[in-house]
Amino acid sequence: MSAQPKTKGRITPQDVRALKGAAPVVCLTAYTTPVARLADADCDVVLVGDSLGMVLHGLPSTLGVTMEMMILHGQAVARGLSRACMVVDMPFGSYEEGPQQAFRNAARIMAETGAQAVKLEGGLHMAETVAFLVARGIPVMGHVGLTPQAVNALGGYKLQGKGADAGRVLRDAEALAEAGAFSVVLEKIPAALGTRISERLPVPTIGIGAGVGCDGQVLVIDDLLGLFEDFRPKFVKRYAEFGRDGRAAVAAYAAEVRARIFPAPEHGFADPGA
Ligand code: KIV
Repeated sequence: MSAQPKTKGRITPQDVRALKGAAPVVCLTAYTTPVARLADADCDVVLVGDSLGMVLHGLPSTLGVTMEMMILHGQAVARGLSRACMVVDMPFGSYEEGPQQAFRNAARIMAETGAQAVKLEGGLHMAETVAFLVARGIPVMGHVGLTPQAVNALGGYKLQGKGADAGRVLRDAEALAEAGAFSVVLEKIPAALGTRISERLPVPTIGIGAGVGCDGQVLVIDDLLGLFEDFRPKFVKRYAEFGRDGRAAVAAYAAEVRARIFPAPEHGFADPGA
């Protein structure tokens, strides 16, 4: 198997795994068909993240995201992808009870969305579940460090793995790799720890706020596009200002409607029978 990103055909979790040490893994979130189309050509992995609860639905955290929401958005994203590997997040409460519950819900996500893999949050304590899913044909992406579904237990969206806590995050990541995860997301940890974990793990790490030493990077696409004007996490780089430009476009439209400039004759229809 080639260790380079594929330019033709569907990228599989095995292809992503093979990028370790060969090329950076490029990953973005998408929640809708048009955004999936936007990401497909340039991303190795498109993640239907449960961040959609906050980003699209205005929820205060990801805790209120349901299986139905993940499946609906997963189906929409699948319609926009032909190349990138599609991974769907397992929502809070759909996998933590144990391996059987996790398998039931992961299998439903895979069957109903066409995803090639699922992602779930948690380290050492999720290793048994990850091994159970992998042994039954479900590729799993892990997620350690800041795990937003545990926001209440963590006391907020705080930097994880500081000082003596670094060993915990390292052990979490190693446990997932040993359990068979094909890649592991590292969220909001010190950059040096991101590098250290990436050097130790046999599978690609995909960082978000974990430094350039990770094997790949993921961002929430709405952050990258600058769709939010008020919220700008430190680890986000904006590559566009869609929010600002969108507001200006709406203001221009409103002004033109009020001035009866829009619609112009070319936007209307003549009666061919007149
Ligand atoms: O839900 C999400 O979008 C995520 C990524 C930020 C890794 O988990």
